[in-house]
Amino acid sequence: MPASPKILILGAGGFIGSHLLERILTTTDRQVIGIDIQSSKIEHLLDSERLTFAQLNVHDTRAVTEYIEQADIVISLVALCNPALYNTIPLDVIDINFNRPYELVKVCARMGKWLIHFSTSEIYGRTIASYTGLSYEEQEPKNYLLNEDETPLVLGPISNQRWSYACAKQLLERVLYAFAFEKGLQYSVIRPFNFIGPRMDFIPGVDGEGTPRVLACFMEALLFHKPIRLVDGGLNRRVFTYIDDAVDALMCMLRHPDQAKGHAFNVGNVANEISIADLARKMVATYKDLRPEFSECDFEINVVSGKAFYGEGYEDSDRRVPDIAKARELIGWEPKTGLDRALRNTMRAYIEQYASAAACRKAC
Ligand code: UGA
Repeated sequence: MPASPKILILGAGGFIGSHLLERILTTTDRQVIGIDIQSSKIEHLLDSERLTFAQLNVHDTRAVTEYIEQADIVISLVALCNPALYNTIPLDVIDINFNRPYELVKVCARMGKWLIHFSTSEIYGRTIASYTGLSYEEQEPKNYLLNEDETPLVLGPISNQRWSYACAKQLLERVLYAFAFEKGLQYSVIRPFNFIGPRMDFIPGVDGEGTPRVLACFMEALLFHKPIRLVDGGLNRRVFTYIDDAVDALMCMLRHPDQAKGHAFNVGNVANEISIADLARKMVATYKDLRPEFSECDFEINVVSGKAFYGEGYEDSDRRVPDIAKARELIGWEPKTGLDRALRNTMRAYIEQYASAAACRKAC
């Protein structure tokens, strides 16, 4: 029997990478090369005989190229994907999300490797519906449902540097498409819709600095008894997709390479759509349920402007509802985890990881 294709994961030590690596090693017989500068999230996997882990900067193209040569499939998770950075260090955001991966695309094209690239749901920008003035209940699906091959990509003005990331990611997708068109590159794209799960992001002042994404911001507020802050009232909406479902999508692609190649796939759980204000309320209720000792606490929820929270040049995606018909039809993917379970699992992991750090601070 021919050996299974060897997989290289760039960014294997991050949130998504750690779950992907775990799944591939525990459910398949594939050989994997993992590259990352950090390994704290994958310590439990480093002993695997089928894993070669290289502690390297993924942007060291020369060193990484040696590993690409050994692999058949390259999965690239490398990104700066935190909105607090898009309008504050836009040059780094463009460099890491466009210039560096562009080099990787060239190498994969030259060597004939299948490149599976993690893009973002943010390339859709704002919905057409957001310009109609209708409330979300009144909007028509044709104006907000995001389809990979039909929906226009609507980004705000250049001075709203929030879009530096979406624009860099979009251009990279265009590069992939063009390389396939002109040079026969084999590629696939995943557009994540707010993946959540254990090991995501960081808590400021404990294991990172700055402002993480919304789940971690709200967990910091709950654990450390700070006010939850709703940016611009928390009216914008997201679908939160559990990491196990996200990894399922990748596994479906690996099982159906011919159907996956040459396509971008939305990976998001439509059933889990919620406004950020409702997410805050749901997280408070879930937290009290998971930690009954805090069930009588009042958790403050405040409203803050986007400018005050993120600085000048912030603008937001109003709504992100993926059309997942293509993933269903071509690779047989279907998300299974509802929001309640996704949140409970994620929040429980945060509590296990950070409760002792929080215990040092004041109770409610
Ligand atoms: C980010 C990235 O930009 C996307 O590329 C990525 O696909 C996505 O996360 C993801 O996790 O998949 P975004 O959803 O805007 O996009 O990131 P968050 O920081 O999680 O913000 C979600 C919403 O919560 C935004 O409306 C934000 O303004 C709001 N928010 C955030 C609050 O109301 N309070 C906070 O404390 C933090």
